[in-house]
Amino acid sequence: MRPYEVIKAKRDGLELEPAVIRSFLDSYVKGDVTDYQMSAMTMAIFFRGLSARELGAWTRAMLESGEVLDLSDSPGVKVDKHSTGGVGDKVSLSLAPLAAACGVPVPMISGRGLGHTGGTLDKLEAIPGFRVDLQIPDYRRLVREVGACLIGQTATLAPADKKLYALRDVTATVDCIPLIASSIMSKKLAEGIDALVLDVKVGSGAFMKTLDDARTLARTMIGIGGEMGKQVVALLTDMDQPLGRTVGNALEVKEAVEMLRGQAPADYTELTLALTAEMLVLGKQARTIDEARTRLGEVIRNGAAERKFHEIVRAQGGDPAAIADLSRLPRAAKTVAITSERGGFVTGIDSEAIGLAAMALGAGREKTSDVIDPAVGFVLERKLGDRVAAGEALVTAHVNDERRLDEVKQRVRSAYRLGADAPARRSLVLERLS
Ligand code: URA
Repeated sequence: MRPYEVIKAKRDGLELEPAVIRSFLDSYVKGDVTDYQMSAMTMAIFFRGLSARELGAWTRAMLESGEVLDLSDSPGVKVDKHSTGGVGDKVSLSLAPLAAACGVPVPMISGRGLGHTGGTLDKLEAIPGFRVDLQIPDYRRLVREVGACLIGQTATLAPADKKLYALRDVTATVDCIPLIASSIMSKKLAEGIDALVLDVKVGSGAFMKTLDDARTLARTMIGIGGEMGKQVVALLTDMDQPLGRTVGNALEVKEAVEMLRGQAPADYTELTLALTAEMLVLGKQARTIDEARTRLGEVIRNGAAERKFHEIVRAQGGDPAAIADLSRLPRAAKTVAITSERGGFVTGIDSEAIGLAAMALGAGREKTSDVIDPAVGFVLERKLGDRVAAGEALVTAHVNDERRLDEVKQRVRSAYRLGADAPARRSLVLERLS
């Protein structure tokens, strides 16, 4: 079939044959199907969706557009975690050493932050010397020898996704469940995992605004994993406020180390433990979630998790002294309290607005070419349910460049919703699907 006929068939709601999908995507990577033809195709998918058979073929074609790593020479059940993205989400930094300290090898290929969400790679690079650009042979070796390795996407893994994601970003076709699911799963399946834990965020700051959509996305990804012979578990988690108390790269590294010492805020600790416990069960290092929780408690108490993080940092070129003594991480020139103009209970914190405020301070990128300042960001002095009086701090901003400080203050103040009564407590993990 010519590209025109394939697009027309999808537009008219016909089911495409796997071979047709494969040929269309392969031709796109080669440049024989043009960007404008693929734009029409993704828009047709946006409206028509993909059947389970089409989705399987689409994901497989994306996955096999590049190298698919085989880590079977490394012992153990390799398990990774993927999160659909949040503000203040530093879970990967603590989860990888925790899982590795319990014997689950973690091959993790992560992304950079763009827009209001932060990226694991940018956070890791706040540790002096830490390298995320290791080549695949080193990645392989560190998964085997250290038990975890965290690197960036390479040009050889799922190249179809790289090209397609950039196109979707400018053609209003990012928020389409089959395209999100195939994009995420093609990258994760390429990194050499045996099993995967998904953290699908729900709420104002997330891709999925409703529980129904989050459930559909999770089920779609679980289905793709199943078809490829990988076990996938998903937790649907609340994203109605930033996670933990910090937003900003070095500040988040500090909080992650505090988590490994058992000294981090309850929400961040709980989410990390819930996701890592699932990894321990999938990785056959615990029979039940309760047993996994007990083991995680042990490696926090006996220091093994923190030592594993030092080992990972050293193996990837970073300076472990900077996380042994947290005052050696990059620090901003000054701190500024951003105070509340009114009193009341915090009834909501718009994560996206906080993320954008952090970006205005220099903690994130507006465009891919922007340079990040690792030292800047926020410590949230008030979270959901806390009381604040007029004149008291909502957040402490860590600042190097004051040029946009007025805008930052304005964004932070408008991110906080205050009310006369404390809101009802919501649990962080809303649902578990497998
Ligand atoms: N994250 C991805 O990797 N892909 C998407 O399509 C959306 C979020």
